[in-house]
Amino acid sequence: MVKTIETTVGNAHNPAVIERAGRLLAAGELVAIPTETVYGLAADAGNPSAVRRIFEVKGRPQDNPLIVHIADLAMWTALVEGELPKEALLLAEAFWPGPLTIILKKSARVPQETSAGLDSVGVRFPSHPAAQAVIRAAGCPLAAPSANLSGSPSPTSARHCLDDLDGRIPLIVDGGECGVGIESTVVSLVGEPVILRPGAVTAEMMSRVLERPVSVSAAATRPLEQGAQVASPGMKYRHYSPKAKVTLVEGPAEAFFSLLDRSEAGTFGLVFEGEEHLTDRPCVVYGKSGDPASQARGVFAALRQLDEQGAARVLARCPSARDGAGLGVYNRLLRAAAFEVVCLTADRGRA
Ligand code: TXA
Ligand code: MG
Repeated sequence: MVKTIETTVGNAHNPAVIERAGRLLAAGELVAIPTETVYGLAADAGNPSAVRRIFEVKGRPQDNPLIVHIADLAMWTALVEGELPKEALLLAEAFWPGPLTIILKKSARVPQETSAGLDSVGVRFPSHPAAQAVIRAAGCPLAAPSANLSGSPSPTSARHCLDDLDGRIPLIVDGGECGVGIESTVVSLVGEPVILRPGAVTAEMMSRVLERPVSVSAAATRPLEQGAQVASPGMKYRHYSPKAKVTLVEGPAEAFFSLLDRSEAGTFGLVFEGEEHLTDRPCVVYGKSGDPASQARGVFAALRQLDEQGAARVLARCPSARDGAGLGVYNRLLRAAAFEVVCLTADRGRA
């Protein structure tokens, strides 16, 4: 017989909800939890069958490793091989709790299911008080990918989790809207420091702390070539995709709106605040122009909204900054657009 699961949404401010989340997780069940970046679909990181359920529920490819979430440094020590390297400790001191995942060689305590067969593990100490409270209530580190169905935009509210996971998990802890809005920066310290996924903690910020360069993987801004080796398996999947076909448009606002006005019926604009009045076409707003933090906060909700409104095609304004914090937003939109980018210039229209 098929087990029917009733999904409840409980407020993170209610201690009984946190306690229930802890009990469910300790018993091998899955719970969606808020973090400062996006909502996570959590399970006991040390329980192989619970972790396998994450892959099942999300429809996640088996070779994509999970990030392990901790609420104190002793948990970290147990997850990695040998002593914690000095550079890892420096980054943790500077950016934890917060939106940074640090990859190191894993200890034998991390099951193959969690690391998807790799010999490394990505660990993050989230700053969201409800995430910390649930980890403490569960009494173990929690493996948690984003709490969306694989391939759809990451969830930044409890509503988004319910839309994707209703009837598949017993509990969603509602901690309000996520403050950062895109997933954590993933940095590997297995070799030279390299950012595998850009986020709110930037290469510049980490370079300053480590007093040496931190590079960004080319896969952050370029499609992978056929058969290429990837350091981070998550990079190779079509990601963050709404159902609509998205094209990212670089260039000035004027040229963008002229292209949008001429585009086929059913095309939506994905634009900055205040710009929706520059066209008769339907638009969804994803942040303020020139403000990467607000763009990060809004981008995934905007992609979901485009689907809800039935957009068939979307022309998206390019994030204003493509370095620093803007790189994370650019990377997510590039992937939503499956790397389809059009460059416009002010006077010549399509370049
Ligand atoms: O902000 C976040 O990181 C959110 C919240 C819930 O914490 N989590 C999240 O998890 O985004 P997920 O599974 O959606 O993305 C994890 C990314 C994937 O691209 C995966 O390939 C990469 O991190 N990753 C995890 N462990 C890795 C490892 N050992 N080596 C290389 N890449 C790893
Ligand atoms: Mg994800």
